[in-house]
Amino acid sequence: MTEPVTWTLDNGIGRIEIDNPPVNALSNAVRKGISDALKALGDERSLTAVVIACAGRTFIAGADIREFGKPRQPPTLAELCDQIERFPHPVVAALHGTALGGGFEIALACHARVAAIGTRIGLPEVKLGLIPGAGGTNRLARIVGAVEALQIALSGDPIDSDRAHALGLVDKVTDGEPVSQAVALARALKQPPVPTRSLPIEGAESAALEERIAKALSKTAGQHAPAAIVESLRRAIALPFDEAVAADRETFADLSAGAQSKALRHAFFAERQAAKFDSPVGSGKRIEKVAILGAGTMGGGIAMSFAAAGIAVLLIDTGTEALERGLARIQSNYDRSVSRKSISADEAERRLARIATATDRASAADADLVIEAVFEDMDLKKQIFSDLEAICAPDCILASNTSALDIDAIAHVLKHRDRFVGMHFFSPANVMKLCEIVRGADTSAATIASAITVARRIAKIPVVSGNCDGFIGNRMVAKRSAQVDRLLQQGALPQQVDAALKAFGFPMGPLAINDMSGLDIGYSIRKRRGTSFPIADAVVESGRLGQKTGGGYYRYEAGSRTPIADPEVAALIEQVRARLGVVPREFDEGQMIERMIYPLINEGAKILEEGIAQRASDIDVVWLNGYGFPRWRGGPMFHAGTVGLSEIAQKLTLFAEETGDASLMPSALLVRLAGAGATFDDWDKGTLRDAA
Ligand code: 3HC
Ligand code: NAI
Repeated sequence: MTEPVTWTLDNGIGRIEIDNPPVNALSNAVRKGISDALKALGDERSLTAVVIACAGRTFIAGADIREFGKPRQPPTLAELCDQIERFPHPVVAALHGTALGGGFEIALACHARVAAIGTRIGLPEVKLGLIPGAGGTNRLARIVGAVEALQIALSGDPIDSDRAHALGLVDKVTDGEPVSQAVALARALKQPPVPTRSLPIEGAESAALEERIAKALSKTAGQHAPAAIVESLRRAIALPFDEAVAADRETFADLSAGAQSKALRHAFFAERQAAKFDSPVGSGKRIEKVAILGAGTMGGGIAMSFAAAGIAVLLIDTGTEALERGLARIQSNYDRSVSRKSISADEAERRLARIATATDRASAADADLVIEAVFEDMDLKKQIFSDLEAICAPDCILASNTSALDIDAIAHVLKHRDRFVGMHFFSPANVMKLCEIVRGADTSAATIASAITVARRIAKIPVVSGNCDGFIGNRMVAKRSAQVDRLLQQGALPQQVDAALKAFGFPMGPLAINDMSGLDIGYSIRKRRGTSFPIADAVVESGRLGQKTGGGYYRYEAGSRTPIADPEVAALIEQVRARLGVVPREFDEGQMIERMIYPLINEGAKILEEGIAQRASDIDVVWLNGYGFPRWRGGPMFHAGTVGLSEIAQKLTLFAEETGDASLMPSALLVRLAGAGATFDDWDKGTLRDAA
């Protein structure tokens, strides 16, 4: 095996190169390699300075997350950063790609930094439930000041090379390769170099800092890492450098052994795993030309996602009026992004220019991919795909964005069903990351692979789902909705139900969400299927359709989207309870959470058992990216492992007995895994399948 770290000495400049694909993560071997190289170079009499650079696509993208929880070999990253900072000659980092987490900490310990233009720099530890573990917050604060350091460490979002330069984090940005510039800078630095630790922290006592801290903590209640980052910064301000970094290391170790960081690491790998699909044709067909049918809410959002990725699309609707309406909505979305400064006016214009329009279906003739997003009407969809088959090339991929129709029933009209697939985007489609790739009975592996690849190109997180009612996400939501209604029937109020799930970590409660989307859609689906949710039905039948009518489960003041508890709704609920003969009881928050979350996990287990989802972690990805499940709980299936499967199975049995609803009984898979003391992760690893 080749060494991941090598060094050379040329004309007084030592060059340390890290080559540890794919992202030059700081494994045990890399840390040791850099340390040994520095020691060896330090012994060279002709040495005047050192440049640290990386081969491949990126500078060091952080600690090796796969090594967390495994034995660590010396040196620790903190020791390595000290060694760099205390090196008697200047050490300059040459950055390209990304310099993240531990990679950025190494760069901060260096005496100067040069970055290729476009390099992204940041401390994403918070997204893994961690704090920078090797003095990152401390050194960063000494370069950019306390307020900016807090912002960078708490958001976890990378900043680009220009911003890094403006903040003084990068000494030079180059549009060429950074190593030669780093060598030139290394020669110019004074000897011995100034260590970052000796700089003061600006803004340490400022009111602005306290204001930011209070705001950040109020938004992240219940999460350990943000609070720990604040503490780390306070220590950086109050304590001697070494003492503060030693305390950071302890905090890092505690956090990385904790449930929240494990959940967030699970989410990181689950998202990458979800996009993996074993296909004999690799990543599938290269897609260049895309047509979207339907310029409504979804079609417009999907078109914006392609435009953002630099891919031109043709948006087709039935008439100029519908197209104008669609384009006006797209334009107003761009205007909002420009006013919020999330994109520049030029970029908005470039994106808009990538969206062409047509009123004739035949203009999709040369497309490689057509995504249909017209009204949710089976006959209409069948007609459209039957036409498209005649219009488009035989290998054009035909995709439907249907959220509730049977993919195989639509495919039935096609002669070549292998190239037909569901691509279920979520609303607003230009924002939401999730895309369920729905596999019909005849969809080919090549078509799935192509859909996954194109979804990734437009920055979506694809998850393959089998074809069933509601696919993965909505099928599970339906189970939760039934329990939400049951809680209301039995004694809870809408605001209590929503507060419970918000306390669990969802950004919004399910009933406030329903009010936002409109209650009539669910109502008409229930009527079509002959099912009933007594409270939900009563709310709709009283004329309350949600925000659009000024009231649903809550009331809304004119022009406001803030839900306000409404005594009229409480009275309505009382009437239904009386009609059903229910004597209301009280539920505490924990009971409500269990009654809403456990049935959802149970349905996830059935989805897994039936092979609708490839992996339990895919189900987690669906919930993290489509339904606001708190990321620091890892998703419902991971969360189940944290609670314990036998506890969940027991409670489900109890709920089933108590309500007489046999559908709440734990699924066979849940019972079996619980009996084996296993988790869904064990199922994913394949260790228990043979016994199934
Ligand atoms: N450790 C181990 N593996 C990593 C990794 C890391 N830090 N970062 C990425 N990988 C792996 C991915 O799992 C993936 O593996 P796979 O091909 O087997 O699925 C492969 O590298 C490529 O990753 P992506 O598919 O994500 O590639 P992209 O080009 O889309 O993105 C990236 C590259 C921006 C670097 C992205 O991978 C990323 O954000 N990585 C995580 C960065 C991070 O969180 N660093 C901080 C780590 S914690 C830390 O440093 C603690 C310190 O303070 C002590
Ligand atoms: P919408 O009503 O906003 O838009 C539908 C568009 O299709 C309209 O502009 C209409 O003029 C156009 N259209 C109708 N017939 C057409 C035809 N023959 N050719 C071309 N265009 C035609 O509907 P929305 O909400 O965008 O939904 C579209 C599809 O996406 C539906 O299948 C829906 O189930 C699905 N979906 C909707 C989600 C949502 O939250 N709105 C989420 C996920 C999927």
